[in-house]
Amino acid sequence: MCGIFGYVGNRKDAGRIVVRGIKSLEYRGYDSWGVARMIDGDIFIEKNVGKIGGVNPESFSELSSIAIAHTRWATHGGVTKENAHPHISCDKKISVVHNGIIENYQELREELKNKGHTFTSETDTEIICHMIAENLKTSKDLPEAVRITCQRFEGRYGFLIINTETNELIAARTGSPLIVGRGEDETFIASDIPAFMEHTKTVNYIDDGEMVITDGKETRFYEINSGKEIDKRNVEITLDIEEAKKGEYEHFMLKEIMDQKDTIARAVNQDEEQIQTIANAIRDAQGTFLSACGTAGKVCMASEYFFSVVAEKHVNFTPASEFPIYHHFLVPESLLIVVSQSGETADVLEAMKVAKSKRAKVLAVVNSEGSTIDREADYTLLINAGPERAVASTKAATGQMAVMLLVAYALADKLNEGRAVLLETASMINDMLNPRYMEHVSGIAENIKEEENVYIIGKSWNYPMALESAIKIQEVSYVHAEGFAGGELKHGPIALIQKGTPCIALIGNDETKMDTLSNTIELKARGAHIIGVAPENNEVFDEWIKVPDAETAQAIVNIIPIQVLAYYLAIKRGKDPDMPRNLAKSVTVK
Ligand code: F6R
Repeated sequence: MCGIFGYVGNRKDAGRIVVRGIKSLEYRGYDSWGVARMIDGDIFIEKNVGKIGGVNPESFSELSSIAIAHTRWATHGGVTKENAHPHISCDKKISVVHNGIIENYQELREELKNKGHTFTSETDTEIICHMIAENLKTSKDLPEAVRITCQRFEGRYGFLIINTETNELIAARTGSPLIVGRGEDETFIASDIPAFMEHTKTVNYIDDGEMVITDGKETRFYEINSGKEIDKRNVEITLDIEEAKKGEYEHFMLKEIMDQKDTIARAVNQDEEQIQTIANAIRDAQGTFLSACGTAGKVCMASEYFFSVVAEKHVNFTPASEFPIYHHFLVPESLLIVVSQSGETADVLEAMKVAKSKRAKVLAVVNSEGSTIDREADYTLLINAGPERAVASTKAATGQMAVMLLVAYALADKLNEGRAVLLETASMINDMLNPRYMEHVSGIAENIKEEENVYIIGKSWNYPMALESAIKIQEVSYVHAEGFAGGELKHGPIALIQKGTPCIALIGNDETKMDTLSNTIELKARGAHIIGVAPENNEVFDEWIKVPDAETAQAIVNIIPIQVLAYYLAIKRGKDPDMPRNLAKSVTVK
């Protein structure tokens, strides 16, 4: 949540560079934006409500060799120009952009007000620049003032500052991601790599409790608490710039849905030894827990069924925000499996912290290589789906399911069989996503676009997919959608069904098929308009979306047409599917 990006170096269009770069972090928040540049020894700030996407980088081309930029997802203080970052100290000498939440900001704000500082926003962020200015009065230099300031903070932060006295960019991190990009005589620091990917692929990862000082040429890293200088390894990243672009597609969401023609095969391409090591770790663990948030959480729920059906192994899913409550059950022999696209989700990191405090091991299934979750886990399986930019997760979710299903097969000593099932699924998805198919699903979206409610049912792994379908429809089209286990309908929710209510039934060719069909008939008897997602048509369906028969991988193929339906519902209702209201891609606050 919130993207930050800073540049210092030998180029003279720092403003233009940071505006261009911050646009690629817009997925992290998009309610307001701002830029601070140093021009002739003074800091100039421009900011506004709205999306940075519409701002022209060319209007930031004046001579400046250091600048910071921000794209905001509001936490403290509403969406106003005053609350947009950057913020600046009273003497106009220190300006800051920040991602995270300073939890004790109220107390610090009072303290600073009593010392004569004037606040112009309602944000927690503004205390950072005032407090550094205050501490500078008694510190030997600015880096020391920054360190002392950080030591007072409770909560999470990744921030960047510029100041009028030195041509240095200073960054500090605890809990929110920050990555340094190393160019020749220039340095970039951002919340995520795409901000500077067009300039350099050599990076340093900043860890919690660390700060960076750079003038572009020389970059130094320090521990915040001790002030000790630390060495950092240069890492070459392999991200493909083209993959992070929309290409021929109008929206990232559509591009990423279509990417699923090959992302399942990429996810399956795992190192055999590594998968087997992980399967052994699960086998030996005294209790395996799964944890994640949102869509990734639904992937974990589906994985409970994969492990049960394929490997007869009980694993236990808990949403990451609830996981800390379970600490009583954790022992050093426990295993926690976390699933995440961004690898930066705050609740997941918190779950990992709790597991580690009990000396349990952590396996991460992630998309973003080098992310905090990737680096902090004991084992990582990368899903290799390429950058996912639309807020709604599509290809990452199906890639995560593919990896989890493969692990379940490895656990059952049937790795080759698992790989075969998944590769066959990948090829069927490739066939399925053709123009006629897209048109058919778009037609169904047209028929239901005025509806206020949609309900989705499923059983076994199609139950979490019903929940995931609801998330997809809600977040991009703003239609009220709810998913249920089919068998639960008659225990309450069936009261919601009226003549014409659209209900989607997710069905596979497995032992649960007849039960779900019976639940669908119960819905139809109450007047529901039935959209069946199934390998075979049935007379109870008013509309049929055909999916391949994918056996144990049915959850993966069944969710794809719902992603397509959600996309077209958003378009037909005039919404932006890539940047839904109130949301952000990377949820780095608890
Ligand atoms: C919904 C969606 C979110 C994420 C959740 C976790 O489409 O994308 O529900 O799944 O915020 O994010 P990651 O996977 O980055 O940990």
